This record gives sequence, structure tokens and C-alpha cells, in this order.
Amino acid sequence: MKKNNIVTLNQFISDQQNEFPFVQGNLSRIFRDIQLAAKMINRDVRQAGLIDILGNFGETNVQGEEQKKLDVISNEVFMGLMDMNGACVCVVSEEDEHIHWCPDGKDAKYILAIDPLDGSSNIDVNASIGSIFSIYKRLSLDKPVTEEDILQKGHQQVAAGYVIYGTATMFVYTTGNGVNGFTLDDSIQEFCLSHPNIKTPSKGAIFSVNEGNLNDFPQGVIDYISWCKESNKEENRPYSARYIGSLIADFHRNLLKGGIYIYPPTKKAPNGKLRLLYECNPMAFLVEQAGGKAHNGTDRILDLEPKEFHQRTPLIIGSSEMVDQVVALMNK
Ligand code: AHG
Ligand code: MN
Ligand code: MN
Repeated sequence: MKKNNIVTLNQFISDQQNEFPFVQGNLSRIFRDIQLAAKMINRDVRQAGLIDILGNFGETNVQGEEQKKLDVISNEVFMGLMDMNGACVCVVSEEDEHIHWCPDGKDAKYILAIDPLDGSSNIDVNASIGSIFSIYKRLSLDKPVTEEDILQKGHQQVAAGYVIYGTATMFVYTTGNGVNGFTLDDSIQEFCLSHPNIKTPSKGAIFSVNEGNLNDFPQGVIDYISWCKESNKEENRPYSARYIGSLIADFHRNLLKGGIYIYPPTKKAPNGKLRLLYECNPMAFLVEQAGGKAHNGTDRILDLEPKEFHQRTPLIIGSSEMVDQVVALMNK
């Protein structure tokens, strides 16, 4: 039990100046504000039942989904901080139909995409939720930002990560040099390195999927789920079914333990449910950096060309051998 030997996220970042160039409009400033947003949202999440911020906000967002009060609060927290740091040109958010332009960021280099609060259906029942972020560099500083700057492919991400408000609050990120996880020490309000250089097992024994929609899944996914349930002692089957319904929480568990998360295309939603820019791409960047894979059944997630800000895609993500197997069955 090392108690005093801590490395804070800020310390870690300043030790890696090659990852976080200290120039005007820099990445470290955005990271500082994402951390601050995470602490503010964490505070609200922890007290939500006491200060009347559980429940619905009373409006639907651009996805046609009911907004929770905490969805709206979290979005405002992120926007307020990005507006003022001078490092972020604009933000694409799940909660806003249009691009949010940051007043102080006209000449800034970076573009942020966020799901300010993921797993809304779990807010009122005290299960794990999170915030997701993805950062791109604008294509040119010499001309104004266009859609082309915002709709870059996932493999062009400069950084991505999430904050999970779970049993503990954790900040997990990558800048393309592996994945590191930091746990919030409540007593000093600092994220401290707890999970250095996370690698995901190439195979696990957990499958995470909303089986309620099974009848609508492609046959390959149905076949894979049946296979997961078959008994086979040597192969550790049947696998365990684990599904919280919070992408971050399901992803985080599978990242550490090994496993697969599937949100397939369905008859009703042929493009799945999850959004490419601020859900699938950041998770795909993280999982690949940890040695796993992310696919949509036809393509690698990070190779997809975004056509619109709120585009959806099916997602098959997790341990590499498991993803390969599902994709092979889907293409049989
Ligand atoms: P959000 O709360 O940001 O709208 O995201 C919810 C997403 C994702 O977190 C989760 O994995 C998925 O929706 C669950 O969907 P189902 O209820 O259809 O399984
Ligand atoms: Mn979400
Ligand atoms: Mn959300």
C-alpha cells in the first residue's frame, strides 16, 4: 500500500511535455479543464439525490432522447470551461444539435467532442455513469474552421478519454502513447495515477449486450451470443453476461478484465444507437491503445468517415480475439 508515493494527473502531464506541447492553445489547458469539469460533475452526481437534480429536465435532445437534469448541467459545465480557456475552438456535444463555438477560442488549435454524461438511464438509480471526450487538431490555422476540421476520422484523434463516476471516480485517457488511469482522491481532490499503462486481455469471459433486442440482431451476433452461452470447460464457457447500460461502465469493466461489448445494428436502428464522434471513436482509440479492437461489422471504427456530427454506428469493442470472432460471424 503506497500512500505517499503519488503521481497526480497534472504531474503526469507535465512530465510528458512531448505529449502536451506547451504552446498557445495547448492540449494541457484542455486537459486541465476536463479535469475540473469532471470534479464539478462528480460533486453534483454524488449529491444529486439531495439537491433536487435527479430526474428529467423536461426536453428532448437532438437524438430525440429525454434529457436528464444532470445531462444539461454537465453540458453547461463543459461549455462554460471551454468557452474561457482559449485552447478550444468549438465543441460538438451530444446535448446540442449545432456546433458550440467558444468565444475565446477563435485562434485556438483544438476541437472537442463530448458526451457530457453517458448512461443517463442510470442516473436516477445510482449506477455508474461517465463523461466521454475526444480531441482533434484543426486542419489549418490559416483558414476558418469548417465541417472538414470537425468531421475527421477517428484515427486522427489527438487524445481521447473518459471519466467514470463509479464506486470511485476515475479519469482514463490516451494521447496515442498507451492508456493510463487516475483515481480521484476525494480528500485532496486530485486524480492520482492508479492504473498505469492499461492493457486489455486478448480474450475474456464477459459479453455485454442488450439481449432484450436479440430478435432484432443480425444472425451473426445471435450465433455469437448462443456460442457464449454454450458449456465448454477448457474455454471457460459459458461466459458471464454483464450489461449495465452505461457504455463507459461496461467498457471500463471489460477493458480491465477482458470481454466484449456489442451494440449491433437492429432492424429498428440499422446504424445502432451509439454516436461515432463522442462515443465510439474515443472508446475505439482507447481500446486499440490498450491492445484491443473496435469494429462496426464492416469497418474498423477509427477508419470510418464521419458525415455528420451526430452520426451513429454499430459498435463491437473489446478484447481483440473476441471482436475478430464476432466480425467473422457477421460476415459469414
Ligand atoms: P447516453 O446516456 O449518453 O444517451 O448513452 C446511453 C447509451 C450507452 O451509454 C449505453 O451503452 C446504451 O445507451 C444503452 O442502450 P440500451 O438501453 O438500448 O441498451
Ligand atoms: Mn452516451
Ligand atoms: Mn449522454
